Amino acid sequence: MGRLDNKVAVITGSATGIGQATVKRFADEGATVICADIKEEEVKDTVEEIKQNGGKAESYSLDVSKEESVRVFAGYLKDTYGTIDILFNNAGIDEEGGKVHEYPTELFDQIIAVDLRGTFLTSKYILPLMMDQGGSIINTSSMSGQAADLDRSGYNAAKGGITNFTRAAAIDYARDGVRVNSISPGTIETPLVDELAGTKQEEGGQEFREAQKWVAPLGRLGSPEEVASVALFLASDDSSYVTGEDITVDGGVLAYTWPGKMLMDKSWKENVK
Ligand SMILES: NC(=O)c1ccc[n+]([C@@H]2O[C@H](COP(=O)([O-])OP(=O)(O)OC[C@H]3O[C@@H](n4cnc5c(N)ncnc54)[C@H](O)[C@@H]3O)[C@@H](O)[C@H]2O)c1
Repeated sequence: MGRLDNKVAVITGSATGIGQATVKRFADEGATVICADIKEEEVKDTVEEIKQNGGKAESYSLDVSKEESVRVFAGYLKDTYGTIDILFNNAGIDEEGGKVHEYPTELFDQIIAVDLRGTFLTSKYILPLMMDQGGSIINTSSMSGQAADLDRSGYNAAKGGITNFTRAAAIDYARDGVRVNSISPGTIETPLVDELAGTKQEEGGQEFREAQKWVAPLGRLGSPEEVASVALFLASDDSSYVTGEDITVDGGVLAYTWPGKMLMDKSWKENVK
């Protein structure tokens, strides 16, 4: 028996990284998964793999930042499934834009539109499909929503917004039996990190991954599967009394204040399990 048997789950941003890992995990646990992504073509292999393993999944082309696209998607979900049990708002983009005075306004608008407005829009249009029977919404914030990064004010603003939007939605829908929580991943090995920091094969990318040995107390990047496990907890009845909460999945990065001793202690860097 799966932990999500008979549940219908929508996952946005499901082509790669955290979304793709969560699609597989939810399907393994018995859910019917609607894999929505702006790059629908790239979701099709995952959907095929799930079907071959006896699971239930389909792909759907969706731009979460476009209201009409989300409205039409919700209409399709209503006609096809009637109700939705789980919504994982995972689609997101990130890009460095320089310091605030030089940060391109178009980039700021774009990141807010996909990450924050997208989370609002899918919630707004899919919530009516959850309110009769209850459900679980999981939003994807970031450790960058709780603390800030150099040159990434647009992303920091969007993710900080998602964390507090989560609390607002949790209160609004508690009496409808809909729980709303967020996950704040730290640095997770996905194509998004390849774009920002360089791939494992590139020199800059290798340096970045090496630096995680002291940046993250657990001494490494996280995997998409490790975030998918937390999404599963929040999606399932195991978290039935959890709402309005943010769970950090960052290998301990936000647990410390002064990194000086870690920086100076050689054994800290060498002693990674
Ligand atoms: N990887 C990390 O270190 C990290 C850390 C913190 C938070 N996050 C967040 O996790 C989420 C997933 O990121 P990831 O690392 O797996 O990245 P990723 O780039 O592998 O996946 C993002 C997915 O979102 C899709 N997408 C982008 N714009 C979209 C749109 N307008 N409409 C629909 N889909 C769209 C992309 O096609 C892609 O499939 C994002 O919200 C990201 O901000 C990632």
